[in-house]
Amino acid sequence: MANKVSGMSNLDKAWGGRFDGDNSVLMEHFNASIRFDKRMLDVDIRGNIAYAKALEKAGIIETAERISIIDGLLQVQKEFSDPDVNLPDSLEDIHMAVEHRLTEIVGPMGGKIHSGRSRNDQVNLDERLYLRDHISSLRNKITDLQHVLVNSAEKYREVVLPGYTHLQQAQPILFAHYALSLFWMLDRDNDRFNDVLKRADAMPLGSGALAGSTFAIDRDFLCEELGFSRVTQNSIDAVSDRDYLLEALSAISIVMMHLSRFCEDLIIWSSSEFSFIELSDEFSTGSSMMPQKKNPDSLELIRGKTGRVYGDLMALLTTMKGIPLSYSKDMQEDKEPFFDAIDTVDVCIRVFTGAWSTMKLHVDNMEASMESTALATDLADYLVNNGLPFREAHRVVGSLVRDTLVQEQNLNDLSLEQLLKYSDKFSEEALKILDLRSALSQRNIHGGTGPKAVEEQIVSARAKINL
Ligand code: ARG
Repeated sequence: MANKVSGMSNLDKAWGGRFDGDNSVLMEHFNASIRFDKRMLDVDIRGNIAYAKALEKAGIIETAERISIIDGLLQVQKEFSDPDVNLPDSLEDIHMAVEHRLTEIVGPMGGKIHSGRSRNDQVNLDERLYLRDHISSLRNKITDLQHVLVNSAEKYREVVLPGYTHLQQAQPILFAHYALSLFWMLDRDNDRFNDVLKRADAMPLGSGALAGSTFAIDRDFLCEELGFSRVTQNSIDAVSDRDYLLEALSAISIVMMHLSRFCEDLIIWSSSEFSFIELSDEFSTGSSMMPQKKNPDSLELIRGKTGRVYGDLMALLTTMKGIPLSYSKDMQEDKEPFFDAIDTVDVCIRVFTGAWSTMKLHVDNMEASMESTALATDLADYLVNNGLPFREAHRVVGSLVRDTLVQEQNLNDLSLEQLLKYSDKFSEEALKILDLRSALSQRNIHGGTGPKAVEEQIVSARAKINL
């Protein structure tokens, strides 16, 4: 077959019977979704093959017809998979395009494939199948990133850096603890995708346009054939439902938000003022004007694309909110935002994984930038352990910090005599608290940043992804 698939006039279209004239070229282009829904070709063919079998079971087509329809569908799949194939707007959408070409190949008998079916239940099926395939590949990429994070937690297990709240130095943390914080966010993301799949796991064929079908289509057979665990329970709901896309878009938006926050940290950390990390050349770019520049564009783009993915979610929520039940053509607008979000999150996870795994840590700068006051809470905790109520301990250490700042002294340079001026609860032991690593080792509470706790965290993180 030539790369150009033949188009058709309104009269030849599946819905052409009650028409006398053609669409305007403008309308034909406006109405067509083939430009963007052709990526559902494989799932559409899968649905068609299962449906041909169901039609045979229902006595609507003969075995020989089923065989030639399935052969024809496989030929259509092959032809349409050619990247140079030109599918004209007059084919309207992938469902009509497949049926049209099938009928050209097998003759008018091909038209039997649409018995008892509507594009309303067909598109719903295709989207659920497409979602299933793509979410599993997304989940694999998330798991790849989780592996990278656990590896860097292990590699940099000794590295200490300031932890921040309000972007002000708060308390020292292990880099491994920081890296694993993203691990657990991604763990929830994967869980969310699992949940999305659970609710998307219902087979809609047999719902027809909105009211079901008069043919004895065995829906349970189709369910089994297409790998679903249950059938939809209400044909009106089935053809009106886009919750599965909205939930996917929402879960994708949350992944993007997670990545974006880490991008923000890494962008700040790569500034010369922080200089905690340096991105690899592979994931940075330069300036066309300033020769000295090395910019974190990879991370900025992920941060930027997060806004775009939120837009995809908002677009579909807004599209859906005013549509009277059941199907209206507005719902064709579900595809571009959904495909865009899937493509965007996919590339962003890959770029983030690349940028993270190739960045260089300036370990010395991280540790050196730690202000001695970052151990103030530890000092207050010490007083609490020696009988002072926390509020009082907070006040004592607060005034101690204020005085050291005024005198431009470091908290960890103070002598015991100086400490005793603030509270008689201080003793030699307090001086040890002011050592970074021994302070960290006080935080071995489950989920804390102490080295032992982080070791245990690495073990449970590994167990999670090596299931
Ligand atoms: N291309 C359409 C869509 O994506 C398929 C369903 C069209 N149904 C109809 N009755 N016009 O939503």
